[in-house]
Amino acid sequence: MTTPLRLGIAGLGTVGAGVVKIVQGHGDLLAARTGRRIEIAAVSARTRNKDRGVDLSDYAWEDDPVALARRDDVDLFVELVGGSDGPAKAAVEAALDAGKPVVTANKAMLALHGQDLAERAEASGAALRFEAAVAGGIPCVKALTEGLAGNEVTRVMGVMNGTCNYILTRMESSGLPYADIFEEANGLGYLEADPTLDVGGIDAGHKLAILSAIAFGTQVDFDGVQLQGIERVSIDDIRRARDMGYRIKLLGVAARTESGIEQSMRPTLVPENSPLGQLEGGANMVVIEGDAVGQIVLQGPGAGEGPTASAVMADVADIARGLVPLPFGRPAATLARAVRANAATACAHYLRLTLKDEPGALARVATVLGQHGVSIDRMRQYDHAAGDAPVLIVTHPCPPSDLAGALGGVMDTGVVSGEPVALQIQNT
Ligand code: HSE
Repeated sequence: MTTPLRLGIAGLGTVGAGVVKIVQGHGDLLAARTGRRIEIAAVSARTRNKDRGVDLSDYAWEDDPVALARRDDVDLFVELVGGSDGPAKAAVEAALDAGKPVVTANKAMLALHGQDLAERAEASGAALRFEAAVAGGIPCVKALTEGLAGNEVTRVMGVMNGTCNYILTRMESSGLPYADIFEEANGLGYLEADPTLDVGGIDAGHKLAILSAIAFGTQVDFDGVQLQGIERVSIDDIRRARDMGYRIKLLGVAARTESGIEQSMRPTLVPENSPLGQLEGGANMVVIEGDAVGQIVLQGPGAGEGPTASAVMADVADIARGLVPLPFGRPAATLARAVRANAATACAHYLRLTLKDEPGALARVATVLGQHGVSIDRMRQYDHAAGDAPVLIVTHPCPPSDLAGALGGVMDTGVVSGEPVALQIQNT
């Protein structure tokens, strides 16, 4: 057997402790699978004297992750610090510039600096792997870069933030509003230190941008992701969507269209009986469509100690085997800047309007929708009360810009009270 692969692990939070546990607990298994023993040489974290539930006494300690990355006895730098810039990025750059492979779970860093880091990695011949950065324990980066290498990928979709899926599914099962379930999720420790990263769709947007780059062979274009969080999703819409056969998910969609790449992360209705529609709690799901394979669906835990450490170790194992896969599945120099689609793909929409309960109100709405080219597929009225007539409409597919124009016209009719709600539907 060859010499051991010696890890330097920066960041000893939940995931870091999980990685230590796997290295300590599965030493023989990993050696058998990779042909090389995997050891931990040194570690680093913000606080040294803290019980992390793992024995670190055999490992050297560094306060500074950059110093850890540069240690002579570290062959592979594992970055689990987090944050798009700062110490995490400085340490990753130090390792790559020294020709040392890096494994990271840092989606924000890759979403914002992925191109530069991939170029650095390839310039020095070092591997840069990030399976754990997208959808936790689901091996979707490998699926795209390796398993589907023979496909022209046409669309990638997914629920990539478990906290948001927990909140949306708990709202539905409990009947409680967003604010209450947000507090519940917070109490359970599900939210990031900055909760906007979760509920604002940013964390999921980072993940989608990374997958989109791999799928379509472009540079990562996080700014090109149209982002909308779940903060304004109401329990009423969750219930009404269900009445119409849908569930609301924070859904990411990246697609190649005739005019360019379209990327969005927003609350979206999916059919309740589809795999995405059946996803409960904190789970993640990634759906990939390729011209040869058709559609594949990957489901699993998107966060947490074991699942994320599992993904980190998959990358560590590849490096132990001597593999140096290209970070984005093709040479970084060949990744073109993403051309953004100039028009969003047509889709069905869900509309919830509260109309004045008077003769002709519905007819006026239908007329205006028709004038803007928006055709009604299904419609339902419910819970008439005190002069108000709530109406649910599912449209036939239409460009979102047509729907926006139609909604403006609908508001001008004077028969609508309150704010209309319009959400896109993905018939997955
Ligand atoms: N906060 C994320 C989630 C996990 O809830 O899915 C890390 O990206």
